[in-house]
Amino acid sequence: MGGRADIGGRADIAALVTEFYRRAFADPRLGHVFVDVARLDLPAHLPVICDFWQAVIFRAGTYRRNAFGVHADLHSRVPLTPELFARWLELWTTTVDELHSGPHADRAKLQAHRIAASMGRRLAEAPTAPGTPAPASTRAATATVATAVTTAVTAPGRHRRPSEPG
Ligand code: HEM
Repeated sequence: MGGRADIGGRADIAALVTEFYRRAFADPRLGHVFVDVARLDLPAHLPVICDFWQAVIFRAGTYRRNAFGVHADLHSRVPLTPELFARWLELWTTTVDELHSGPHADRAKLQAHRIAASMGRRLAEAPTAPGTPAPASTRAATATVATAVTTAVTAPGRHRRPSEPG
């Protein structure tokens, strides 16, 4: 036990997501999507991301937007492949683990996996460019990853909440 504290509230979430996006922007595979495709204005976006994670981790009613729609739009410009999702999850998991430990940290990781699986499944059916279906290979691979991830993280007694896309 490394003495890491659990995620305690909004301030911890802000520090956590700041560190996660620092890594994601610098990542050889993911950085391109944030920097070149979305041209994400991170300081402007962080409050929204914090609202999202506060809703997910603490079941707070802080997030009412459509996160899936944001990623479907993104996916129409650059395919969000199973490899990208896997990398995203890897970065999220290691960042959470390095900073925190406890039930809220576990929930942050579990829900990220569930949401990523759900997004991946739905994106596999979404167009990658206006009017063009995703290549069959991408669809099949995404479905496989989504199934694997769902199977790995599905715990009894959990239900999707309104704040979670999917
Ligand atoms: C391949 C994986 C992913 C990539 C490349 C990615 C990238 C992005 C980008 C570029 C944005 C900003 C889009 C814009 O406003 O123009 C965004 C927003 C967001 N992402 Fe992701 N994302 C990924 C997976 C996920 C996952 C798995 C989650 C949740 C567990 C997530 C949660 C969010 C949220 C909450 C927002 C803000 C949506 C809003 O504006 O309300 N993302 N993502």
